[in-house]
Amino acid sequence: MAKNIQAIRGMHDVLPSQTPHWQYLEACVRDVLGRYGYQEIRMPIVESTELFKRSIGEVTDIVEKEMYTFEDRNGDSLTLRPEGTAGCVRAALEHGLLHNQTQRLWYQGPMFRHERPQKGRYRQFHQIGVEAFGMAGPDIDAELILITARLWKELGIDGLELQLNSLGTAEERAAYRQELVAYFERHHDALDEDSRRRLHSNPLRILDTKNPDMAELVAGAPVLADHLGEDSRQHFGQLQALLTAAGVNFVLNPRLVRGLDYYSLTVFEWVTDRLGAQGTVCAGGRYDGLVAQLGGRSTPAVGFAMGVERLIALLEEDGRLPEAARADVYLVQMGEAARREALVLAERLRDALPQLRLLAHCGEGGFKAQFKRADRSGARIALVLGEGELARGEIGIKHLRDELPQEAVAVDRLAGRLAEIFDKS
Ligand code: HAM
Repeated sequence: MAKNIQAIRGMHDVLPSQTPHWQYLEACVRDVLGRYGYQEIRMPIVESTELFKRSIGEVTDIVEKEMYTFEDRNGDSLTLRPEGTAGCVRAALEHGLLHNQTQRLWYQGPMFRHERPQKGRYRQFHQIGVEAFGMAGPDIDAELILITARLWKELGIDGLELQLNSLGTAEERAAYRQELVAYFERHHDALDEDSRRRLHSNPLRILDTKNPDMAELVAGAPVLADHLGEDSRQHFGQLQALLTAAGVNFVLNPRLVRGLDYYSLTVFEWVTDRLGAQGTVCAGGRYDGLVAQLGGRSTPAVGFAMGVERLIALLEEDGRLPEAARADVYLVQMGEAARREALVLAERLRDALPQLRLLAHCGEGGFKAQFKRADRSGARIALVLGEGELARGEIGIKHLRDELPQEAVAVDRLAGRLAEIFDKS
């Protein structure tokens, strides 16, 4: 027998029992973002490889070892997007969305990273991302964080911690970087292999190490906060004041550096300890240099992205998610003529009662088999259309969940009777 073909490792099907959870989350996010005036944008899943190299950074984990990059039939190097910010900036530039105007945008969809799969970490995963362009002050940083806080509230997710840091400007970071490299060089023997590799390519990422043997060394390293200039300090201070005024709790995490190179000033992450090692459910920050880096006029920008699988895992743990919708009515039919009539009848009922969830039996099957399916569908009642009912111009109503006698109703009274039963119209 031929071997079954399976899904690619780290890439998952979302099954019918789970799609209601996704839809619930998506509907809530769509609603909240709409209320804040954000508009949806949809970008392609594939972009030129160069876009990600130039934006995320050549020496990041993502670009160095996680991208799904391939040559297409023309020999062009293309990449499945590992994140949405680069494509969003590319699209905004390409369509002139940033000319003398602000933009509040959001997107959702699959992203691809060739990471080692584990709970909460996948090779195809989904993000909902939000990006705001053309606003330089800390108020828009605060707005984005308030959006996320409202989302957790409306979704019923509690216990998330907001971590904040400021990465300063590119110049401030460069000066800090020199000092950091000098510090780690003085302690070269204590560095693990990964950190030695990063020492000259991306030393800030050493601060992010998960290696417990390096914890002490990292704790003693110089702190970026001490290298921020006056403007950066002010921006960060004002953001904190805004959040405090709005009642959003946060903790300052000077080791929060993020894995993408385009950030400046504000960076933040919402984390939980309930998902094991993959505890960041939402992350982002300011990226004032990126638009110019991709060829546009210098434009301040800030955004974040949520990991949909991780948020759903939290909601599932809390049992806060809706179940798959059940059918209201299952239409059972028997005999050639009734089968023809059944679909027409079903359409008429759908016209009259648009809210009704009606499953019409299709294909063969005796009464017994059809009632079994009716029961499994979760329907409250079965409508029965056999040769006898057809001849009398009637439909049988059998109550599947309530102790009520079977009824026979004239076809033209059926919609009215169903409306009574379901209290819907
Ligand atoms: P990121 O931190 O790389 O940022 O990803 C954002 C979120 O996506 C993470 O916090 C996590 O919840 C989820 N995520 C990332 N990788 C995986 C994975 N392999 N499996 C499951 N979930 C994952 C960005 O992507 C930036 N573009 C965010 C941003 C937007 N910054 C500014 N604007």
